[in-house]
Amino acid sequence: MAKDIIIAPSILAADFSKIGQEVVDVIDAGADWIHLDVMDGHFVPNISFGPVLIEKLRPLTDVIFDTHLMIAPCDPYLEAFAKAGSDYITIHAEAGPHMHRSLQEIRNLGKKAGIAINPGTAVSDLEHVIDLVDLALIMSVNPGFGGQKYIAETGKKVSQLSALIGDRDIRIEIDGGITPETAPLVASNGADVLVAGSAIYDGKGKDSYAKNIAAIRAAV
Ligand code: DX5
Ligand code: ZN
Repeated sequence: MAKDIIIAPSILAADFSKIGQEVVDVIDAGADWIHLDVMDGHFVPNISFGPVLIEKLRPLTDVIFDTHLMIAPCDPYLEAFAKAGSDYITIHAEAGPHMHRSLQEIRNLGKKAGIAINPGTAVSDLEHVIDLVDLALIMSVNPGFGGQKYIAETGKKVSQLSALIGDRDIRIEIDGGITPETAPLVASNGADVLVAGSAIYDGKGKDSYAKNIAAIRAAV
């Protein structure tokens, strides 16, 4: 099912000393969603932020909050991320043995459920949970850091995911190394939510963010 392309800036690349303003600015600059990268220093080798920050950002905007949990275990924290104001909560298939249960739990909490897979994980691993998700995320870098190089092999996985989804109402998200150069490769294979951190948040402020978002949009 063809969907409008969503641009979801990752605040991981923003200036955290003025994070509220950075969120407001990127929305004014044309962002559709805000992508929130949660890292635990265990599932991934980096630590970012937790539900408290999301809760503080929530009153600033009505746009979709797309929470990407790179944490293991995830189950003890799903409720906190739901209460903090996430709209989508995405967990990793590799984060534990019970992705089926975790996805059910996210929907029970009244949120849209997402499942993410790392570059080394096969799309076929999602076959038995596909009817439990509203979003499937192909990682195009190994999760943990912004500013990494896009792994070209993952483009193929977007096509495979698209075939698995068929006409189900599920968003296909791509995350990692997305730029005006790489975005068209994945969008043509069916990705409709494009996450970008460093290609949007370049430290130069709102006008620059607007140009960067427009460049990705124009490229797809
Ligand atoms: C990586 C995160 C990404 C990352 C994207 O672990 O999930 O969302 O911040 O950053 P860029 O666009 O710089 O690759
Ligand atoms: Zn992410």
